[in-house]
Amino acid sequence: MRERKVGIIGAGSVGATAAYSLSMMGTCKEIVLFDIVKGIAQGKAIDIEQSTHYAPQRTIITAAQTPADIKDCDIVVITAGVPRTGDMTRADLLMINAKIMKLVVEDVKIYSPNTVIICVSNPLDVMTYLIHKLTGWESNRIIGMAGALDGSRMAYQIYKKLGYGAGQIGTLVIGDHGQNMIPLPQQVKVGSVPTTDVLSREDMEEIIERTKNGGAEIVKHLGTSSYYGPGRAVAFMVEAILNDTQTVVASSVLLNGEYGYSDVCVGVPVVLGRHGVEKIIEISLDKETQTKFKKSVESIQEGIHILNNNGLFE
Ligand code: APR
Repeated sequence: MRERKVGIIGAGSVGATAAYSLSMMGTCKEIVLFDIVKGIAQGKAIDIEQSTHYAPQRTIITAAQTPADIKDCDIVVITAGVPRTGDMTRADLLMINAKIMKLVVEDVKIYSPNTVIICVSNPLDVMTYLIHKLTGWESNRIIGMAGALDGSRMAYQIYKKLGYGAGQIGTLVIGDHGQNMIPLPQQVKVGSVPTTDVLSREDMEEIIERTKNGGAEIVKHLGTSSYYGPGRAVAFMVEAILNDTQTVVASSVLLNGEYGYSDVCVGVPVVLGRHGVEKIIEISLDKETQTKFKKSVESIQEGIHILNNNGLFE
């Protein structure tokens, strides 16, 4: 980790916001943006680098002319993909984004073979698994961004209910980064006070539902998916890795027996540091949560089977 160089493949809304957030924090020395659509990476690189005039330090932001310019990065963030449109099924979206991922990962393997990859493209857990299959790398080097965002959304909902404790709300959201995600109310504390003492059961149920629909709520207003929350969550993970902070954050990682599952990527609490995933933390789950976790894992396995049946792992 000498150069503090971050590559971002897919300079759309989330990729560019992650770059902006990182440059405002002065986390990296250099950020390289790449996008398949001509002009996007170039335009955003110039705009973001100019904004760093008012940041604590300058960050060099460049636009990759070709994937070869995403070279020797410490971290590569992949947001490349297409959004789901009305006429697309989930399986259609899965196949389209998987084919994009396959192209992108080929380049990362060649030009940044020692990097840590943070996957953002959806469906998140299945895409993260696909990256494992395509690279064959050590599992600590491939991480899906999910719980960092879902946890911030849960904290937002709790703060909105309580009206106090900003910055002191520790949340945990595990499972898949979709409809079966599992916000864990029993783990939530506000400044060390268990939320069970300050929030009613009904309030917490509403918080859980709103957390699960956090992305959809923004789409409803904006007509497009969110990017400030996801972009900042990516930057938070990059900071943890580059600064080797050993921060605990739920992320989608490959399980190898943890929680009773193997060969699947799913959101669980992990420690992030200079090697990527430093440790997977196994918390005890009650019976009800185990059932929800199983459902979540099965929904991810369904996606994995579709990719397998279509020869994506070959
Ligand atoms: N190589 C590089 N970039 C690509 C490729 C490719 N092969 N294919 C698509 N892209 C780019 C698109 O041109 C676009 O600029 O990926 C970018 C994606 O950006 P947006 O469409 O703005 O999507 P965004 O909101 O940033 O979300 C990115 O994160 O949350 C997930 O579901 C979301 O998969 C999506 C991803």
